[in-house]
Amino acid sequence: MSLLVVDSLSKKYSKHVQALSNISFQACKGESIGIVGESGSGKSTLAKILLGLELSKEGQMTLNGESIPPKKRSRFRQYRKDVQMIFQDTSSTLNPKLPIWKSLLEPLNNFKEITPSYITEKGLTQKEIAEKLLEMVGLDKGMVNRYPGELSGGQKQRVSIARALSIEPSLIVCDEPTASLDVTVQVQILNLLKDIQRQTKMTILFISHDIRAVAFLCEKIIVLKDGSIVDQFGIDELYDSNRHPYTKALIKAASID
Ligand SMILES: Nc1ncnc2c1ncn2[C@@H]1O[C@H](COP(=O)(O)OP(=O)(O)OP(=O)(O)O)[C@@H](O)[C@H]1O
Ligand SMILES: [Mg+2]
Repeated sequence: MSLLVVDSLSKKYSKHVQALSNISFQACKGESIGIVGESGSGKSTLAKILLGLELSKEGQMTLNGESIPPKKRSRFRQYRKDVQMIFQDTSSTLNPKLPIWKSLLEPLNNFKEITPSYITEKGLTQKEIAEKLLEMVGLDKGMVNRYPGELSGGQKQRVSIARALSIEPSLIVCDEPTASLDVTVQVQILNLLKDIQRQTKMTILFISHDIRAVAFLCEKIIVLKDGSIVDQFGIDELYDSNRHPYTKALIKAASID
């Protein structure tokens, strides 16, 4: 069964701005789906609608069979836990005035009823849990007491990933998580996301304007252009001759053909 079903989704911001038109796709548990397209193609709009940050009046979406956003108020909490987001700009998730361990534990402290699978011992202190999370994303546990201003861009993005993972969501939406990082750091973060996806069986929706990044990480690729899906295919079909001309142009521009 599909974890995420998006069916005929459209979004109009105003009379003249049709950000998404008739978007349909599905994602299974543990699958990594890439959404690629140029600036203004509607990628972030899709992410925001999935997160409930924007509303759409047209189309249906379900996660684990439940409507997104949920119709019943009682289901909201589960939805807030199940869908987590990683942004390009870590300043939206890491408060510069809080030490890393406090920012890391915010989601877990909002969902005290959850005991995540990585907490195997009883009686861990908050800082010890934060240290575990840092180690899960390849950071030194000594960083718990630092402030975001004392970390590099790549380290901050690792902390945001750990924060999103902390409550074990079923879907992680990443909107250009590597766009503001150096190329070598981008590769490290993509490798980290790939490892996490393999280990946790979480579904990842990875948004990027960079088809190379999407092709590296994702099993299925959706190409958006002016708010519409123009192509949708498995990674094995990337170089098929019947790819949409726009997909071919993206591949050529990224010089991976
Ligand atoms: N809050 C808003 N109000 C009105 N129009 C908006 C709003 N947000 C986005 N848009 C418009 O919707 C379209 C899609 O924008 P969106 O941010 O989804 O694109 P994107 O693919 O994420 O682009 P980028 O790669 O630059 O981040 C654009 O034409 C944009 O100007
Ligand atoms: Mg965007």
